[in-house]
Amino acid sequence: MNQFQAGQMPELEAKGWSGHFASMRSDPLGTMERASAMGDLVRLRFGPFYAYGVFHPVHAQHVLVQNAQNYEKQTRGYAKLRLLLGNGLVTSEGDFWRRQRRIAQPAFHRERIAGFVQNMAEATRDLASRWSQAASPTLTSNISEDMMKLTLRIAGETLCSRDISGEADRLGGSLKHVLEHFHWLTNAPIPYPEYWPTLGNVRFWQAMRNIERVLADLIEERRRSNEVHHDLLSMFMEAVDEETGEQMDDRQLLDEAKTMLGAGHETTAVALSWALYLLSQHPEVADRLAEEAEAVLGDKLPTPETVSQLTYANQVFNETMRLYPPVWAFARRAKDDDTIGGFRVPKGAIVFVGIRDLHRHPEYWENPQTFDPDRFAPERVEARRKLPSGKHSFIPFIAGQRKCIGDHFALTEGTLVLAMLGQRFRFERKPGYQEIAAEPRLTLRPKDGDLPLVIHPR
Ligand code: HEM
Repeated sequence: MNQFQAGQMPELEAKGWSGHFASMRSDPLGTMERASAMGDLVRLRFGPFYAYGVFHPVHAQHVLVQNAQNYEKQTRGYAKLRLLLGNGLVTSEGDFWRRQRRIAQPAFHRERIAGFVQNMAEATRDLASRWSQAASPTLTSNISEDMMKLTLRIAGETLCSRDISGEADRLGGSLKHVLEHFHWLTNAPIPYPEYWPTLGNVRFWQAMRNIERVLADLIEERRRSNEVHHDLLSMFMEAVDEETGEQMDDRQLLDEAKTMLGAGHETTAVALSWALYLLSQHPEVADRLAEEAEAVLGDKLPTPETVSQLTYANQVFNETMRLYPPVWAFARRAKDDDTIGGFRVPKGAIVFVGIRDLHRHPEYWENPQTFDPDRFAPERVEARRKLPSGKHSFIPFIAGQRKCIGDHFALTEGTLVLAMLGQRFRFERKPGYQEIAAEPRLTLRPKDGDLPLVIHPR
């Protein structure tokens, strides 16, 4: 037993009364790196309060699975997220969440997702055609923006059979503004009332109304027409809770539609952006990916069967999310006193899991900073699973009952897009751009959303 096991978790030292407020605002990734370098469980002080950091798979499993019922989403971050997503699957809790999850789950079965592969493939083919036409001989593009538009189109088509990226200026512009202001709302040094009539707040609510209007119109139109659609919105509208016989009302449909757009599009877009960036740094990986895509796809669009054969593209996508998990950390509040790894965690404390640092834990990953998609070769995955809580050494979608409902959807989309783009193009960092820094906003995105890459046809 070491000296700390008497009770308190080791603490990352902080100067001044405010503790880590300033360093978490100015350098969140660095602060978390320093904390995780200290140990697997480390406290950070914010004014008079402590937040308890978890950086080891065994302890993450404790929070997410073994004692998950003790950890709720009653934190400041989720309160603000409710402004954005309403009371949808990401933000709701308890019986309401359980019912919504039960209703939504069938829409994410593998066979359903197979039905969306064609939308994903056509949207990617159109982007590739646009790049090809512009790339004579090369094109420099902000990959971040391209990936946001691509995943927004896919999210729109799969959610409501509409290419809402066509309404990008109306919807995409509003989404962008909402996300920017959201960062400010959650990171203001003192709680910042979102209803004060500041310019930022007024524009935020205008943008929110805009998004809601687009989605509410869609729901209303759908209620009126008798057309049959095979999209998530229809599945939600038709779904009947087996236990209660209830269906979702318009408010719930709107919240779930906002949730699917919000949770589904930016996360996948940043993962894809980082993947293309990493391919630009690792030509040998890019060549192997292109060879696989050529052998499996040839000149055909992907189908559910061929996507499942794109094993290397899938490994590249996973390895990207290991190094750059779109959701890089998350927090919960302890409902009751708990003990994690022998340390006391008091009732009401904020506990956070640093996914990005956990994904680089040296007990699970050799040379953890190195990009190496072969780590996800089946035999190496199997070997990792034999380590303590090995399954939780890679949790981009978290784990347990609150695991991402769209994980299979995202993996299918990520694999397919990477294979199709990697087959046709080679990517290179724009001259003059050094290493692109990661910036933790709602997701872990390239700094300022700026990722210019030079695109060469293969
Ligand atoms: C690479 C892409 C994605 C990543 C990394 C990701 C990650 C996550 C994570 C970490 C959570 C847990 C959040 C929390 O506990 O607060 C989550 C939840 C969720 N995700 Fe995803 N996600 C991705 C794509 C998607 C897609 C494509 C969809 C929908 C089409 C989606 C829908 C959701 C929903 C509805 C939840 C809430 C589930 C629940 O609590 O029941 N996600 N996701």
